[in-house]
Amino acid sequence: MISPLKFHDKTIFVAGGTSGINFGIAENFAANGGNVVVMSRSQDKVDAAVEKLSSHGSKSMGFSADVRDYDAVENAFAETEQALGKIDVLVSGAAGNFPARAADMSPNAFKSVVDIDLLGSYHVLRAAYPHLKKPGASVINISAPQAFVPMQLQSHVCAAKAGVDMLTRTLAMEWGAENIRVNSIVPGPIKDTEGMARLAPTPELIEAAKNSVPLQELGSTDDIGNAAMFLSSPMASYISGVVLPVDGGWSLNGAGIMMDSLVKMMSK
Ligand code: NAP
Ligand code: COA
Repeated sequence: MISPLKFHDKTIFVAGGTSGINFGIAENFAANGGNVVVMSRSQDKVDAAVEKLSSHGSKSMGFSADVRDYDAVENAFAETEQALGKIDVLVSGAAGNFPARAADMSPNAFKSVVDIDLLGSYHVLRAAYPHLKKPGASVINISAPQAFVPMQLQSHVCAAKAGVDMLTRTLAMEWGAENIRVNSIVPGPIKDTEGMARLAPTPELIEAAKNSVPLQELGSTDDIGNAAMFLSSPMASYISGVVLPVDGGWSLNGAGIMMDSLVKMMSK
């Protein structure tokens, strides 16, 4: 987790940063000197994350808030600036997922994923904007291969994450003049995460996922943390508006194959 990139005296805010990939990102920044703030719904998860992040020696804070609640999100950013100053790095990764056919899920099921992933991302970026360091902030949306690989059982996620990547591109244009860079990271299948547990719920499906990655292995949360640190470092100072797969080549083809295996399993 130790990187040549350092984030001492930098403030990093990770929306949805209390578990899985987003917590991995938070921990990578904390291990490399950053003061890290996390926000998610569960107060217990927030407390546990803050405790672990603090063990790296820098400052850490957390907020219990639902990204669908704009006022709560706005309040978290205002309190963050008061305590830790302007935000150098914003990661927006709160999301929800479950496998379901479009014709089988309720309108509210579709809406809940769009509200968390897409509207929630807009809430996070919009509320953070006055608190971002100008010039110099790095904004990273956590997308998914569903944004550009159509997958059965994922109409809600495909629609929402495609929207997230268009937010990345449009805000990279609107905020570029203030030297705020906006990029998406597209994680591949990342081991030991809730997302994988939901889409590859059996050892056979995990093996199939692994075999469908050109590099023939699942990714780790450190793989995504490393990419987030790179994109937020001076080494990436001319990179903006990019949708970056960090997936061992999975989204070239394998992401669709994995979902075909789940469709077969669910049809039995
Ligand atoms: P996860 O552990 O469930 O992470 C989701 C995080 O978002 C949690 O901290 C959760 O905490 C928070 N969250 C969920 N709904 C929220 C809401 N309404 N308001 C605020 N926070 C909320 O899942 P993960 O698999 O690591 O996924 C993390 C990100 O990576 C997601 O954006 C996902 O789309 C993306 N991704 C994952 C994979 C994968 O292989 N796992 C692949 C591609 C993309 P609370 O429950 O406390 O709210
Ligand atoms: N299949 C079909 N519909 C489902 C479903 C499933 N597996 N799980 C939930 N839904 C439906 C519910 O029935 C409800 O619709 P209804 O009101 O018409 O009955 C709707 O989705 C909202 O569910 P609810 O549990 O009230 O929403 P929530 O806001 O508490 O939770 C979820 C949001 C559903 C996305 C939940 O799975 C969640 O919190 N996920 C976060 C963690 C996660 O998904 N991590 C993976 C990586 S993104």
